[in-house]
Formats: sequence, structure tokens, C-alpha cells
Amino acid sequence: MACVWTRKDLLGLEELSKEEIDLILNTADSFKEVSSREIKKVPALRGKTVVNLFYEPSTRTRVSFEVAAKRLSADVINIATETSSVRKGETLIDTGRNIEALKVDIIVVRHNYSGAPVMLARHLKASVVNAGDGWHEHPTQALLDIFTIKEKLGRIAGLNVSIVGDIAHSRVARSNIWGLTKLGAKVTVCAPPMLIPPAIEQMGVRVTHDITDALAAADAINVLRMQFERDQDGAFPKQLEYFKNYGLTRERLKEAKKDILVMHPGPINRGIEMSSDVADGGNSVILEQVTNGIAVRMAVLFLVAQANESIKKDDPFDSTQGHPERTSN
Ligand code: CP
Repeated sequence: MACVWTRKDLLGLEELSKEEIDLILNTADSFKEVSSREIKKVPALRGKTVVNLFYEPSTRTRVSFEVAAKRLSADVINIATETSSVRKGETLIDTGRNIEALKVDIIVVRHNYSGAPVMLARHLKASVVNAGDGWHEHPTQALLDIFTIKEKLGRIAGLNVSIVGDIAHSRVARSNIWGLTKLGAKVTVCAPPMLIPPAIEQMGVRVTHDITDALAAADAINVLRMQFERDQDGAFPKQLEYFKNYGLTRERLKEAKKDILVMHPGPINRGIEMSSDVADGGNSVILEQVTNGIAVRMAVLFLVAQANESIKKDDPFDSTQGHPERTSN
């Protein structure tokens, strides 16, 4: 039986089934051609309002959600928390409730605290989409990474995907691991020991500290940003030392499969995680990842909006509105 999306929110890939992830990817596939039309718009979310509520800096994710929502004909409002009443001490829940009182349908939230989108979703009738929370998850980034691999290589099951870099602090790594392993990829994580979180093997991944080993069988390598801003106790390797031991260079790529996909979620620290000639080279699909983010986010916004409509129709007098039990996640 075909999978039906029933969740009002997208909070992470951990709780999704393989079928739900496939549904998002297939829906994204059908939305991708909208961006190559002369008039890049479909009416799927006409009359809906999407708010981007970002408590952390972002270029790709925020703009991509805005473009995605506009291509679905939704109205979009961006809230920069530095210039909002958050600066006056308003809590996340109060901010969310006030945005909801403006009859907003979807809140896309990025937050520095892991679990912030889950908490918001439990308190709101509006759909909540996680645009990255702390070290926890960045589900749409992983979905666009997986979409790009599938588009380029035709499948996910059985592929070897290596994730290299700051695994310990990376929500992108976590979401990629959940998504890729559910779809049957073999995932290797590679970093110096202090950047590998304890018991990561329990997520079904292989660990190596040797980039040559991570590259050897890889069909795709996803290189993560070194998050130096999260280095509270000075435990990170120095930049030059990191590049020498883990940086992706043309020399190192010579030892990999000829057609290996070179990926990076951005923003890139050139000369730290990878050299410029690799970032801009023939194996790089980094900008295609960014383009695919639009289709993936269109799919996510469309699916959560549609599911929330069904929830409201099924239970128009629901007295538990706004309470945790009401959410489908
Ligand atoms: N990949 C990513 O999340 O980039 P931004 O921080 O620019 O959104």
C-alpha cells in the first residue's frame, strides 16, 4: 500500500520510516521541474503562510525555505530574532504562540538548542519544520544530500557513503546517518577521536580516523564544516593540522573511486575541510545540493501542510488543540 504522510511536523529523520523518507524524496522529484519553468510557481500552498523563525545564522537553509514556499505560492515572512521581541526576553513558546495567533500555517525554526522544534511542535497547531536544532538534527539538509546522491547514482541501498569532519557537533551528520542507514546505505564516519561522539557505532555506522580509509570504497563523501565556534574547551585540532590530516585534496581524491561524489552542506571553510580545487572540481556536487534543497523543502512544506489540513478536517472541534497529544509526531 502507498505510504501516506500523516505528520503535521517534520522534526527529524530518526522517527521517520524508510517509506516516509521515500515519499518525501519522490514528492521532491515531482517538484524539481517547477524550478526550471519560465514561471517558477505552482498553486499548491496558495493562501498558506510560512514563517521562517531563525535563532541562528543561515544563508542556504533560510533562503531555500523562502524560495520553496514562494514556488508553492505561499506567503512568507522572515523573522530575524536579533531584531524581534526575543531580544526582550520572550520565550520560544510565547513567540511561537504569537506567530500562530497571526494565523500562520507553518513555522520553520532553526535554534541553537537541541529539541527546540520538538517543544514548539507540542505547543502549536501550526506545522513546525526543523531547520536545524543544536547538535540534534537538520532533516532537510540530510534529505537534500540523500536526494542528490540518489539523483546522481540512481539508488541509495548498498552505496558506501563516508561522512568526514566534526561528527560530534554535527546535526547534519546525525540526520544523514538516520536517513542513509534507513535507506540501506553503508555509512562510515571519519574524524579525529575528539570529534567522534561516544557510541556512534550504535547508530549503525563504521568509524575510522583515517581519511584514506574513508575514501577507499566511498561512492560519496560528505565533508562537514569544522564548527570552530562550538569549540568551548579548545579541544579542536588547529586548522592547518586538521587540513593536513583530514582535508580533502586532489592528491587524496586520486586514491578514491573516479566518480566519487564530493559533497558539503556548506558553508565551506576552504583550505580547512577541503581545497578550493576539490570544492570547485569535477566531482563536486555542492551547488547541486543547494539547488535540490528547493525541491526537497517544497516537498516537506507541501506534505506537512496537507497532513495538517486533514488533521483539522477530521477533528474540527478538537478540545485538545495546542496540546501535546494533538500532534501526530
Ligand atoms: N547547510 C546549512 O545549513 O547552511 P546554512 O547554515 O547557510 O543554512
